[in-house]
Formats: sequence, C-alpha cells, structure tokens
Amino acid sequence: QCPFAGNMAASIPMDLPLYTNDTDVYMTTDWGTPIQDQLSLKVGPRGPTVLEDFMFRQKLQRFDHERIPERVVHARGVGAYGTFTSYADWSNITAASFLSAEGKQTETFVRFSTVQGFRGSPDTVRDMHGFATRFYTDEGNYDVVGVTVPVFFIQDASQFPDLVHAIKPEPQTEIPQGGTAHTTAYDFFSSQASSLHTLLWFMAGHGIPRSFRHVDGFGVHAFRFVNATGNSVYVKIHFRSLQGVAGMVWEEAQAVAGKNFDYHRQDLYNAIDRGHFPEYEFGVQIVQESDALAYGFDIIDPTKFIPLDVVPVTWLGKMQLNRNVVNYFAETEQIGFQPGHVVRGIDFSEDPLLQGRLYSYLDTQLQRHGSANFEQLPINRPKIPVHNNNRDGFMQSTIPTNQYAYTPNTLNYGSPMQANQTVGDGFFTSPNRFYSGDLVRQQSSTFNDFYTQPRLFWNSLSPEEQQMVVNGLRFEVSHVPETSVRHNLVTQLNRIDNDLACRVAAALAIVCPAPDPTYYHNNKTIGVSTFNPLYNIS
Ligand code: HEM
Repeated sequence: QCPFAGNMAASIPMDLPLYTNDTDVYMTTDWGTPIQDQLSLKVGPRGPTVLEDFMFRQKLQRFDHERIPERVVHARGVGAYGTFTSYADWSNITAASFLSAEGKQTETFVRFSTVQGFRGSPDTVRDMHGFATRFYTDEGNYDVVGVTVPVFFIQDASQFPDLVHAIKPEPQTEIPQGGTAHTTAYDFFSSQASSLHTLLWFMAGHGIPRSFRHVDGFGVHAFRFVNATGNSVYVKIHFRSLQGVAGMVWEEAQAVAGKNFDYHRQDLYNAIDRGHFPEYEFGVQIVQESDALAYGFDIIDPTKFIPLDVVPVTWLGKMQLNRNVVNYFAETEQIGFQPGHVVRGIDFSEDPLLQGRLYSYLDTQLQRHGSANFEQLPINRPKIPVHNNNRDGFMQSTIPTNQYAYTPNTLNYGSPMQANQTVGDGFFTSPNRFYSGDLVRQQSSTFNDFYTQPRLFWNSLSPEEQQMVVNGLRFEVSHVPETSVRHNLVTQLNRIDNDLACRVAAALAIVCPAPDPTYYHNNKTIGVSTFNPLYNIS
C-alpha cells in the first residue's frame, strides 16, 4: 500500500496550479508521483546504484539541464515589477491604449543590466546600462528596450557584432575588465568615430550609476507615435528618475565591487522590499515628420541627441517599481524584451540600427529559450488572450481550443476577426511612411557628423565632470599597450576638443596635438556636416 494513499486525494485539488509553493505536501517527480529523493536505489546498502532508479535519474538530469545560454549581451541584470500611470488622455498623439486616459494604470516589468559582463560579473564596472521596460497593456505587450544614455555607438546594425567583439573579453584571457581587454575596445572606439559621443557619456558619471534608482532611461532611436486618424510624429523616448541621477567615482566603484559584487541588484531589491519604491517619469520629445532634418542632424541617426532646450520632453506618465520578483530565473532571466514588441499607436522609424534590432532579439531568444513558444512563458505571455493560427512546436504549453488554425475558413464560427490593417482597431503601420529608391549599401550623408555632438556634450559638463571624463580615459587608455591605438584616440579626441585631447595625451606621454583646423573654427566644431549648424551656437 502506498504510504501517501488517502492523503493525496484529500489534499490536492484537480486544478493544481502549474507552479510549486511552500505549502505543497509531498516531494514528487515532475509527473507527480510522491517520492523520497534523498537516497538512491542500491543493491544492498553498500551496493551499486541501479539504472531503474527514476527518482535519482530525474533529479540529476534536471540539475544537469538547469542552465540556459545567458544573453549574448546584457547578461547581468536585475528586474522588478511596477505600475505605470498615465498623466492624461494622449490620444491626440498616439492610439496606444495604455496612454488613453488620465489615471489609467498598466503593469510593467523593468530589467536593468550591464552590457559586457557575464551573468555573474560585478555590478559596479564602467559600462553602458540597459533600462528595458515592458508595459503589459490591454492591447498587448509593448517593450521599450532602452539604455541609460541617450545615444549609441554605431549607426548600422551590421556593425553590432564588431562592436561587441571589441568590447567583450579578448579570447585568450576572457578577462572582462583590465588586462588586455582595453586594447580592442579602444582600437574600435578610435577607429569608429560614430562611437565617440557615447564613449564620452559613459566616461562621465553615467558609466557607473550610483544605483538603478538613480538612472534615466532612453529609447535612443526615433520611433513613431501614430494617432487613430493616422497622423504620425517622430518621438524620442525618455524615462526620468525622480530620485535624481547620480554616479560613482571610479575609486568608489572599485571599493564597492570588492566589498559587494551584487551592489546594484541588492540596492534595488532592498529598496522595493522596504517600501521605498523608485519612480520614473515616462515621456517623449515630439518631432514632426517634416522636421526630421531640421536640427542640424538626422533624427533617425542613433548617435545623436536632441538637446532638451531645442525640443523639451512631454511627460506622459509615471512608473513606480513596487514589487520584487519571486524567482529570478523564471522572471528576470526568462523575460524576452524585443524592440519589435509594439502595440497599436507605436511604429518604427527608418533608423538602420533599429531595423536590425527588430531581427536580432527574436532570433537570439529562439536560441536562448530553445523554442518558438517562449512567448508562452508566464513572464512573457500578455495579460490578454492570444489567438492566432500558430501551432505546435517544442514546449507548446497552452492547449489551443480552436480547431481550425487557418484563414480563410468558413467553419470556425465565432473565430477572431483580422484587425483592420489601416487605421482601425488593430496594429497599423503609419500611413505616412512612403519609400522609394535604389538598393544601396551606403550610409546616408546625413549621418556623417561625428564630432559636433560629442563637443556639445563635453562643453555641457562642469569642470569636475570634465575631469572625470579625462581621468576615465587616462585610466582606460593607459591599459592599452599599443601606441598606435593611443595616438588614434588622441587624434579623435582632438577633433572634439583640443583641451580634452591634450589632457588625455599628457597622461600617455603623447605630445599635445595642435588644434585640428579641419574640425574646429573659432573654438566651434564644424564637423563634416553640411547641415544647418545649429550646434555652432554652443
Ligand atoms: C539585449 C542585440 C542595440 C538595448 C540584447 C540582446 C541582443 C541584442 C542579441 C540579448 C537579448 C536577449 O537575449 O533577450 C542588439 C543589436 C543591436 C543592439 C543587434 C544593434 C543593432 C541596442 C541598443 C539598445 C539596446 C541601441 C538601446 C537603445 C538592449 C538592452 C538589452 C539588450 C536593454 C537587455 C534586455 C534585457 O534586459 O533583457 N541586444 N542590441 N541594444 N539590448 Fe541590444
């Protein structure tokens, strides 16, 4: 007689939830058979273990399979749930339902991350930081997969693997920071002028946040908001920390990493646990489609920032992070953010970096989760029903009840309608998007000014912040043994600002270069742009 007989029937309801909890009565196999799992089945107490011991085999097998590939970038992260509240009805600019009424609330999930380090790397290294937000809206999931600075290193998605190979650990040592790893990063930065603007941002305090409560977030690319009548505008997305923005100085970050490797994730967890819920405002800079080239650069160039005094942010609502995850793997690790997760009222821009990302995230998540059904995972499934003709696949974990998974069909009475493809009730592409042209592998000449905005950024810093940038570059580049790379970097910095170049050069025993007349004029950057030189006023 089974020792559990009788108890089971009384204690376990038929609609048992698909997750475990601490009130479960018995240890069971994955298929529900009550077991004891501490001793393997042996031939006598001193004999060998027998193959038929399914309890033992399953326990070890499940352990052996616990790991999935970590994210190829942004592997180190921390997540939390939140609530977004819209400040108003924004239907004049977007048909997005989560922005359709004052006070409307939407559940969110945010994952903050570093880019270069492995899943187990320290929190307080100098890096770019991810700020990815999912809005579980009542019309589907909308992800803003952003970072904590408003610009990015490159202008074409084809360059992304090169950037990442240059900043990730070098193959012979796999040392993430220090060692020889600086050489390839600074070889790339000094050869790829589009990266200089972002480099300066994260050499300043933005590279080492005080905590994730103290970071702003940016969508970086231009996107489109489209309203229900089909009018669209370009938007640049912002999150503003209501705790303020704060960074660590390098010495502080090193000490913290030595004492508490998990400083950032612990800070966020503890703050939420103690009821100190961090808050961030969500807003957009709005640019008319016709003004895409009006500001001295191209609105779809992801290495450019629209200064706030040129286009202020319209703050649309506020997000509060107020709930910690219960299971890091099932929630923070398994979430699959994608720039392509959009809802009605949001549309893409032509930014070639964004266009490439629309492919890459889906592709990598198929690899990471091993199945096209990863959207069915609890953290990924939307809060509304999903209904389409997709079928089967590894790990189908819902039981679709629609018998007719094809369209058109005349049999499936009551089957869902196709949403209106133009300006109707479903997602629609902005009717204002029209393209024609020859197929070319060519960068737009409107993307060619690499120096004006880094100079604007450098000029906007306080003397202390400028010193922080200088110190950061001195430290980093002093770890680059190749003199050619050091010289290339100083040459590039000199195209931004002569003082910056000379202060970095001094620490590298490089002679201070003369101001480069190709790029400066009366202490103002000309760059190579033929655009409206708006920033020459800076
Ligand atoms: C993560 C690719 C540019 C922000 C990732 C991942 C890939 C990737 C493959 C791992 C995703 C996963 O495993 O779930 C790319 C490519 C880019 C690009 C190909 C350029 C063509 C950017 C830019 C931003 C960004 C411009 C910010 C605006 C992020 C963030 C994550 C991420 C925040 C982590 C998401 C999370 O927390 O799960 N990226 N990325 N990436 N990327 Fe990018």
